[in-house]
Amino acid sequence: MIELRRHNASFCGPCFVHYTEQQVRKAIDEFEMFTPEERILVAVSGGKDSLGLWDLLLGLGYQVDGLYLGLGIGEYSDASGTYARAFAASRGARLVEVDLPADYGYDIPTGAVAARRAPCSACGLSKRHLFNRAALDGGYDVVATGHNLDDEAAVLFGNVLRWNTDYLGRQLPVLPAEAGFVRKVKPLVRLDEREMAAYCVIRGIDYIVEECPMADGNRHLGYKEALNLVEAGSPGSKHAFYFEFLARASSRFRAPGGHEVPLRECSRCGSPTTGEVCAFCALVDRASASEPVALGATRRPRR
Ligand code: AMP
Ligand code: FES
Ligand code: ZN
Repeated sequence: MIELRRHNASFCGPCFVHYTEQQVRKAIDEFEMFTPEERILVAVSGGKDSLGLWDLLLGLGYQVDGLYLGLGIGEYSDASGTYARAFAASRGARLVEVDLPADYGYDIPTGAVAARRAPCSACGLSKRHLFNRAALDGGYDVVATGHNLDDEAAVLFGNVLRWNTDYLGRQLPVLPAEAGFVRKVKPLVRLDEREMAAYCVIRGIDYIVEECPMADGNRHLGYKEALNLVEAGSPGSKHAFYFEFLARASSRFRAPGGHEVPLRECSRCGSPTTGEVCAFCALVDRASASEPVALGATRRPRR
């Protein structure tokens, strides 16, 4: 039996799978994420959320392929890729692969040092760009990621703590397509980490359990711990925090009229950017010209 305190309910295995599918269906419908006619590219890291999402979307009958990015983060990346490939093979599903070191000449540890960015920032920038590129090149309508309720509540918590009003205006489960950018969706926003882990266990999905080794000092882990404490005392708080934000507050932070600075095409890759060269191409330039950096050298201390 799986007990869900925030729903005041317990489920056996098959009913839990049904519950999980209903939550994903509800998120897709409520936020008009995509239709069965559209082609979806789900970004898979080899972890429970993204592999679980791929499995759920296949089960619900959507046209969905996977995308795996090899980030060059030592053994962690090797293992992540192995899980993603094994899942694709087990379902006879198509996995698109992009490899940062082989295709772009750098890995995340080197990119972070070369660009003087925190590893997660160089990684996030690379992922956003390459998800979009792969979707455009493959003719997909939408990119789906495995961000779950814990992820979204933690990011919201961080943005509220600092009153990052720009980010608050853009923290949505669906980002519509704009010139040069495909639509991005997060169909797992109604499910938390524990639920996704349980789903994978019941469905027999093998996934990488280790966290990224570069995320040691990542503030979001601390925010998740803090929110888990609140949730333990008051089940349903996390859901209310995120969904009441969407319903009642998020529109207040949205800038009327979209981009204030006009966008033009990056002179290298054609992506929309405010400057001559986009941030991704600038990162590639710096990173591919610099000496490779060992994994441990870029780790940030725990706060
Ligand atoms: P993270 O930023 O690591 O929390 O990951 C958030 C989401 O980004 C995951 O649920 C995946 O959908 C996607 N993702 C993360 N790492 C990769 C990767 N190496 N390749 C493809 N998608 C990824
Ligand atoms: Fe991007 Fe860890 S997955 S820095
Ligand atoms: Zn570019």
